Amino acid sequence: MSVLEAIGRTHLVELTAIGRDLPVPILAKCEHLNPGGSIKDRIARAIVEDAEARSALSPGATLIEATAGNTGLGLALVAAVRGYRLVCTMPAKMSADKRIALEALGARVVITPNAPPSHPDNFRNVARRMAEEHGYFLTDQFNNPANPRVHELTTGPEILAVVRPSAFVAGVGTGGTLTGVARAIPSARIVLADPIGSQLADFIETGALGGDGPYLVEGIGGSEIPSVFDTKLVHAVERISDEESFATARRLWREEGLFVGGSAGTNVAAAIRVARTMRRSDGPVVTVLPDGWDRYRAQPWARTTNGLDPSRAPQAFVRFAPHGLEGDEGVAALR
Ligand SMILES: Cc1ncc(COP(=O)(O)O)c(C=O)c1O
Repeated sequence: MSVLEAIGRTHLVELTAIGRDLPVPILAKCEHLNPGGSIKDRIARAIVEDAEARSALSPGATLIEATAGNTGLGLALVAAVRGYRLVCTMPAKMSADKRIALEALGARVVITPNAPPSHPDNFRNVARRMAEEHGYFLTDQFNNPANPRVHELTTGPEILAVVRPSAFVAGVGTGGTLTGVARAIPSARIVLADPIGSQLADFIETGALGGDGPYLVEGIGGSEIPSVFDTKLVHAVERISDEESFATARRLWREEGLFVGGSAGTNVAAAIRVARTMRRSDGPVVTVLPDGWDRYRAQPWARTTNGLDPSRAPQAFVRFAPHGLEGDEGVAALR
């Protein structure tokens, strides 16, 4: 048995503190407990196995992926076990922790500017170009049908084996999770949790992409519809601010003992809103916790007690600084 067998079959936990006064329980699938630390382990394994089955991968081949970080880490795991090399293109806005981890685990990381999809320097365009130029295998999570398929065949059925949800709530990066789970659980109301600033929610509601704005939550939202995202499956949207996402992530840490990343906060914030609209006789609201807190150690939102204000970070750290160091010195000593 290899470590790849440990991917999936994650626990579905009830958010007992956060859900205390809601008419129905909120259940969250602990995807941060996958061996590579995120929900993307599932698609990394599925994409590589699908390519192997089609004889599209020769031994020792180089994989290339445009990634917010998590798919790269999942692919690093699969590449290590199966003997492939890995190159990742990653937008500069993504956390340094993910880049450092990818490099440590053996991937070559190409940082690209935070450019829109139409720009040649956008991380997805750079990956596509490098695949063509160097003969790398483009794992292509945004277009690869193996991505939603693995969620339809594993994530969704794993939920159904435990409960019959009234609603399933998730953010969309590629749309693989939302699309696959929605196909597996056609009876559930499917709700998109979208960061304010993303254009996906506007597209669902109006059929046109809305105004693009900046936001800090990583891995979800966007300014174009990925081809694996079947938008027709979405019944409703909830727009969530960075503040609400990060405040909810902190509640998950401190009230539930779930040490998750920012997009888990977005998902749970939206799930709370959805649960409020349910009747007591309805089934639970289910969502996913895509990755863990430790991916975001370097991000101000994950280091401060008050969320988004980085100026508070030294205050928060200095109380624990060693050797009586104060202010910036104390912070530096702790780095
Ligand atoms: C942290 C995080 N959360 C959520 C998602 C969204 O998952 P999906 O690509 O299946 O829509 C991603 C995807 O990149 C992610 O990195």
